[in-house]
Amino acid sequence: MFSRILGTGAYLPQRELGNKELSLMVDTSDEWIVSRTGIYSRHIAAADEATSDLAFHASRQAIDNSRIDPASIDLVIVATTTPDLVFPSTACILQDKLGIHNHGGAFDIQAVCSGFVYALSVADSFIHSGMHRTILVVGAEVMSRIVDWTDRSNCILFGDGAGAMILQASDEEGIIGCHIHADGRYVAQLCVPAGVSRNPDINAKLSMEGSSVFRMAVNTLDEIVDETLAASGMQKSDINWLVPHQANIRIIQATAKKLGMSMDQVIVTVGSHGNTSAASIPMAFHEGVSQGRIKQGDIVLMEAFGGGFTWGSVLLRR
Ligand code: COA
Repeated sequence: MFSRILGTGAYLPQRELGNKELSLMVDTSDEWIVSRTGIYSRHIAAADEATSDLAFHASRQAIDNSRIDPASIDLVIVATTTPDLVFPSTACILQDKLGIHNHGGAFDIQAVCSGFVYALSVADSFIHSGMHRTILVVGAEVMSRIVDWTDRSNCILFGDGAGAMILQASDEEGIIGCHIHADGRYVAQLCVPAGVSRNPDINAKLSMEGSSVFRMAVNTLDEIVDETLAASGMQKSDINWLVPHQANIRIIQATAKKLGMSMDQVIVTVGSHGNTSAASIPMAFHEGVSQGRIKQGDIVLMEAFGGGFTWGSVLLRR
């Protein structure tokens, strides 16, 4: 039994924040941001838009593209670092917004920027086990709420958005393999240093040691490429598309180089989306599919690295 992708969707908030406007808010420049990150713009959610609202629009599109009845969705998984509420989960809120009242399961996954890869690996296991048949998997973030808009080294990097995917049990090959990892020794390098049970502070903001995170990300993604290829018995040349987490164009280029891939085989959205954490891979995948670049039967490698540290990959046949 395989997990096949039936359809995808994505949603970006209307407001775009370009580097020029950002350079009026903090001491930076378009030239600095583009040369270090490849980012020239990002989308910012409206004050009354929460993560579940972004997730709703992306999910509706994925459901429409899949041509399924929402009532057939027997599990909703939302990967997010910026949930609507402490509880209940954003997945429960989304389930209600979509009008899915069939008593299927719903829960959130927190693995920061690796969240979507984690969520796909969990969904794939549920389908393999026969426990669920049709799963809505979403990555949705309103990162703008946890960014310190006075910290020029971080606020230039992040954006808001949501991507969604419907997975269904099938005899045809879909997800080929998933790998997830974590190393909790690096919590302090990338975190929001406050929460519910420790240091409660509703105004706490994201903190990151940018250059060491950069180095760790490049080295770790190198290893996950080797691990994924070895486990699947595939060669680098078998992979048609790389759909990476969109954090920084230089990290993406390093992984493409490791795979011997031209940048024409990489779906890149970081320029206009910034880093949307768990939303970046499903939005990029949706873009690749809707532009007709990723075709039925293509082999796609998704990979991500994020706070925790967490990292992982998903290899699939479209
Ligand atoms: N505009 C202008 N100058 C800036 C700046 C900005 N937005 N942000 C930092 N600087 C300055 C620093 O103050 C520093 O100045 P100094 O040399 O006078 O002290 C200089 O630029 C270099 O800073 P540094 O942090 O070493 O830059 P960098 O080349 O490492 O680039 C990042 C910074 C954040 C772009 C880069 O480290 C990065 O992309 N890291 C990975 C982040 C990431 O992807 N995280 C998510 C993983 S999921």
